[in-house]
Amino acid sequence: METMGNLRRTHYCGTLRARDAGIQMTVAGSIAKCRDKGGVIFADLRDTTGILQLIFDDSTDRAVFEKASGLKSEYVVIAAGTLREREAKTDKIPTGEVELFVTELRVLSGAQTTPFEVRDGINVNDQLRLKYRYLDLRRPSMHEPIVVRSKIAKVVRDYYDEQHFVEIETPMLIKSTPEGARDYLVPSRVQPGHFYALPQSPQLYKQILMLSGFDRYYQIVRCFRDEDLRADRQPEFTQIDMEMSFVTEDDVMAMNEGLVKRVFREVLGVDVETPFRRMPYSEAMARYGSDKPDTRFGLELQDVTDVLRESGFAVFKSAVEAGGSVRLINAKGLAGALTRKEIDKLGEFVKTYRAKGLAWMKLAADGSMTSSFAKFLSEDEIAAIKERAGAKENDLLFVVADANWQTAAVALGALRCELAKRLGLAKKDDFKLLWVTEFPQFEYSEEENRLVAMHHPFTAPMDEDIPLLDTDPAKVRAKAYDIILNGCELGGGSIRIHDPELQTKMFEALGFTEEKAKEQFGHLITAFSYGAPPHGGLAYGLDRLCMLLAGLDSIRDVIAFPKVQNASDLMMNCPDIVDDKQLDDLSIAVTRVEETPEA
Ligand code: AMO
Ligand code: AMP
Repeated sequence: METMGNLRRTHYCGTLRARDAGIQMTVAGSIAKCRDKGGVIFADLRDTTGILQLIFDDSTDRAVFEKASGLKSEYVVIAAGTLREREAKTDKIPTGEVELFVTELRVLSGAQTTPFEVRDGINVNDQLRLKYRYLDLRRPSMHEPIVVRSKIAKVVRDYYDEQHFVEIETPMLIKSTPEGARDYLVPSRVQPGHFYALPQSPQLYKQILMLSGFDRYYQIVRCFRDEDLRADRQPEFTQIDMEMSFVTEDDVMAMNEGLVKRVFREVLGVDVETPFRRMPYSEAMARYGSDKPDTRFGLELQDVTDVLRESGFAVFKSAVEAGGSVRLINAKGLAGALTRKEIDKLGEFVKTYRAKGLAWMKLAADGSMTSSFAKFLSEDEIAAIKERAGAKENDLLFVVADANWQTAAVALGALRCELAKRLGLAKKDDFKLLWVTEFPQFEYSEEENRLVAMHHPFTAPMDEDIPLLDTDPAKVRAKAYDIILNGCELGGGSIRIHDPELQTKMFEALGFTEEKAKEQFGHLITAFSYGAPPHGGLAYGLDRLCMLLAGLDSIRDVIAFPKVQNASDLMMNCPDIVDDKQLDDLSIAVTRVEETPEA
C-alpha cells in the first residue's frame, strides 16, 4: 500500500457542482463502485459528504489507468486531477453534473470483499448489518442521520448558551433508587457487596444544582434504563436535559418552544409555529385515547356511553353497568377501504390492548348498513350513535366497550394510529407539536398494589389539588408536561417540589415510611432544608428528536452503535462473560449463566 505522499485533500466530494468545473483538486475516500468500460474506468468515490465519479482514461494516462484497474470496492484512495462537466449528466446523485479526471492516484488501503454491498437500496438482514455496523454506516442513508444528530446537538448548545444556561456534567456512577425503570448496577471493588447504579436520568443532580445556585443548567447526557427495547427505546439513550430556577410551567414551556423552533429552522429549514397547542391529559385521553396524541389526522374518539345505558346488547350494557364506557371512532369515508377480513384482523389488534372485542358498523354508498352489533340495538340507539359519530355514507364506525374506560380509550387510540399507518393518513414531514399538561400525579401499579408517581416523586402537584393529597390522591393533578411530536413523546418535565414539608407529604402518599424515604432520598431532603429556589425543567429524548427530524422509524438509525432486542451489541459481542479473577476482585459469585438468547 502507498502513503499519501505529497497529496493532501483539497475538496470534499459531495458539494462539487458544475460551477467547480476546471478546478484542479485532490479528493479522498473509499471506492463505492468501479467499472471498466474498455479503455475508460469509472469509479465512484465516497467520502463523508457524498459520492463523486472518478475517470481514468487509458489513452491519456497509461500509468494511472493501470493502477486504477486494480481498484476494488472499499479500497481507500486519494486522487488528484481536474474536475470537469460530464457529457452524460445524471440527477441521480447531487454531483451528477461533474466528474474528476484523475492524473494521480494513491491506493492507501486495500479491502477484502465485504459481507454485503455497501450502498443504499440493498436488502440485507439486520443482524448482519449490525455485526458489521462500520460498513453499514458507510452507506449514505445511514451516514446522514448521524450527521443530522450532530447538527441538532450544536443548535441545542448554541441556544441554551445564548439563554445563559451552564453546561454541567453529573456522575455516571450514582446511588440506586427504587422509582422508575430497572437500574443497571455496577459493583464496587473497594466496598464489596456495594453497588452503584448508572443514571436513568440526572434528575436529582440537576435539582441539587438549582439548590447550588446555578439557576440554569443543561446537559446532553447519556441515560441508562434496563427495560424492554422498542423502536423508540434503547437501554442507553441520550437526553437533552435542562432545569431552571424561579419559574412556572409557562416559563419552561416557552423556553423550550424557542429551542424546538430553532432546531427545526436550522436543521430542516422548517418554520414551526409557537406557542404550541396545549392539551390537558384528560382531553388527550378522551379524544385520542393516548397521552401522546398524534394530531396529524382525525379519527377522534367519541363517547357513546350515555346513549347505550339501556342497550339490549349485553356487551355494551355490562360495560356501562360496571361503570365503564362505550367509545367509538368514525373512520370517515373508509367503508370501502377495509374488507371484512381486515376488520376481523383489527379485532385481533385491539385485543392486544386488552379490549375484549371490536364492534363495527359500515355505511355503504347507497345508505345501507352492515354491522356486527346493530341487530342488538333499537333504532333510536343506532340513530343516536350515528348522530354522535357524525356518520354519513361510506363511513366505518369502530366501537369498543369496556368496564374500564381507559382500556376502551387506549384500545381505540391504538386503533386510530394503526388505521392511519395502514391507510397512509399521516405524513412524516407534517410536524405537529403539542404539550400535554395536567397529568395525574399518581397512577395505580397493579404489580405493587399501590399508587406510584406517574412522573417522579419530586413533581409538584397543582396548587389547587394539594388538599386532595389527603382526601383523594388519585385525583391529584401534577405540574407536569410532556412535549409530543407526531404521536411520539419527545420529552417530559415538571415543576418540582421545593418545600420539604410537601415533599414529605408526597412520600407518604406514595407509601414510603419516613425511614424508607430518609434512606433513599435523605440527601435530597437535607439539601432542601438549607433553602431551595422554586425550580422546574424538562428532558428530551435526543434520539427520538433525531429520528423524527430525519424521517426515520427507529432510534437505532440515529445511534452510531445501537443495541438489539436482547440488549446486545452485535458488533462488539457484549454483554459477555468475564474472567473468574475479575469476579473475585468484585466479590461476586455468578449463580447462573444462560446461553445468549436470540437477538
Ligand atoms: P422521562 O423519563 O420522561 O423524564 O425521559 C425524558 C425523555 O427521554 C426519552 N426516553 C428514552 N429514549 C430512548 N430510549 C429510552 N429507553 C428512553 N426513556 C426515555 C423520551 C422521554 O420523553 N428526569 C426526567 C425529566 C424531567 O423531569 O426533567 C426524565 O427522565 O423522549
Ligand atoms: P358476539 O356477540 O360475541 O358475536 O359479539 C358481537 C360483536 O361485538 C363482535 O363484533 C365482537 O367483536 C364485538 N364485541 C365483543 N366484545 C366487545 C367489546 N367489549 N367492545 C366492543 N365490541 C365487542
